[in-house]
Amino acid sequence: MSSTFTGETRAFIAGQWVTTSNTFAVTNPFDGAQVARVADCDASHAQTALEASVAAFTWWSKTTAYERSALLKKWHALMLRDEQEIARMIALEMGKPVSEALGEVRYAAGFIEWYAEEAKRVYGETIPSQFAHKRLFAIRQPVGAVYAVTPWNFPAAMVTRKLAPALAAGCTMILKPAEQSPLTALKLAQLWLEAGGHGDVFQVITTNDPIGVSKIMMQDERIRKITFTGSTEVGKILTKQAADTLKRVSMELGGHAPYLIFADADLEQAVKDVIACKFRNAGQTCVCTNRVYVQRDIVAAFTEKLGAAVAALKIGDPLETSTQIGPVVDQAGLEKVIRHVSDAVSKGATIVTGGKVEQGLIFQPTVLGNVSSNMLVLQEETFGPVAPIIAFDTESEAISAANNTPFGLAAYIWTKDISRAVRVAESLEYGIIGLNDAVPSTVQAPFGGVKQSGYGREGGHWGLEEYLFVKYVSLGI
Ligand code: SIN
Repeated sequence: MSSTFTGETRAFIAGQWVTTSNTFAVTNPFDGAQVARVADCDASHAQTALEASVAAFTWWSKTTAYERSALLKKWHALMLRDEQEIARMIALEMGKPVSEALGEVRYAAGFIEWYAEEAKRVYGETIPSQFAHKRLFAIRQPVGAVYAVTPWNFPAAMVTRKLAPALAAGCTMILKPAEQSPLTALKLAQLWLEAGGHGDVFQVITTNDPIGVSKIMMQDERIRKITFTGSTEVGKILTKQAADTLKRVSMELGGHAPYLIFADADLEQAVKDVIACKFRNAGQTCVCTNRVYVQRDIVAAFTEKLGAAVAALKIGDPLETSTQIGPVVDQAGLEKVIRHVSDAVSKGATIVTGGKVEQGLIFQPTVLGNVSSNMLVLQEETFGPVAPIIAFDTESEAISAANNTPFGLAAYIWTKDISRAVRVAESLEYGIIGLNDAVPSTVQAPFGGVKQSGYGREGGHWGLEEYLFVKYVSLGI
């Protein structure tokens, strides 16, 4: 597959494709080659985008749900038309294996389709009045112009999971994609225009100065909502900034997902599931398991089987359709993985498989045994292809170890015991539970965390409500 990039590199502001005097490089993490140079917007571009977004909200919010739905459907179809091209773009800009990237494009398009349908179901309510001369109504209206900050690990899906419900609700959106992977976002803007979408309703501000651009958005009270997916550290900064103008806030932040595998698990299936959960996107998802707790009776057998299966994963160029493990996104990401593995080994962990840099930014898919709670892998999000295995004896011990973290995004359980399944699922302090299911994310279900993994939900009708407020109308007759 060719590694040449021919797509859009200009920012998309106020309906114009904008070039800037400064540009920044997007680099292919597999070979370090420059993929493109992208417009580097500054505060003045941010101000222009903000004014356009606020002005567009006045008319976009008054379009009918049916008009917005029809537009979203066209956009969805165009995204599927170009799915191979977008998948290749994702592989190039952030190193996700192209077959997996194609799955992401379909997942991403799914949000647009689902919210095109859901736009028509933003219902109000009538409330009985105690007075014969009054009628009481609650209606839902769009919150306003929204600022969205998205991460590099899902350049398509994390955009549409915010954008589709926002547009369906009647909000306008300024999107700031991650510096590492802005190309897919620009492609989505191209398709939006081709579908007949207005260039002030959805804008993409590419920048290598996220702090400067975000400051403009965060200090202006006309931006009514911030939605962010990324680290807990940045999420806290944005939440504090949002307080000054009391913006609505949705925060989808870091995770540290435990996987609890009980002795009655289907071992073969549990191995497949841990691989699907841990090694997708080379371990760079917020919902990847970071801690695999295995009941002591089966820990030796499980570790052996997992090690053998992980060793067989195909490492390589993300543009090859057979590749299962590509590079991590950048040098800082790789260094964190190396630091976590060497810290674990220095404290007594054993390397079951992997443990080294394969080439460039590719870290071998790794399984660690004999892991204990004083190791960094059990404390910080590794965001890389490392599965630490920890033995446990009792259900209550597993639950308390799983909950012993500031994070609360996703947790997983493998058991055939239905009573235990319910008990454990209810005891885990997490927003998402995969119960005998390693990949629970889907467009119609609520995605989001508790504790320091943030608040707000994306997906399903919950995702739409994040962009709506309830207005009470009391009518005297
Ligand atoms: C994420 O890593 O934040 C998203 C993963 C998913 O949607 O499954």
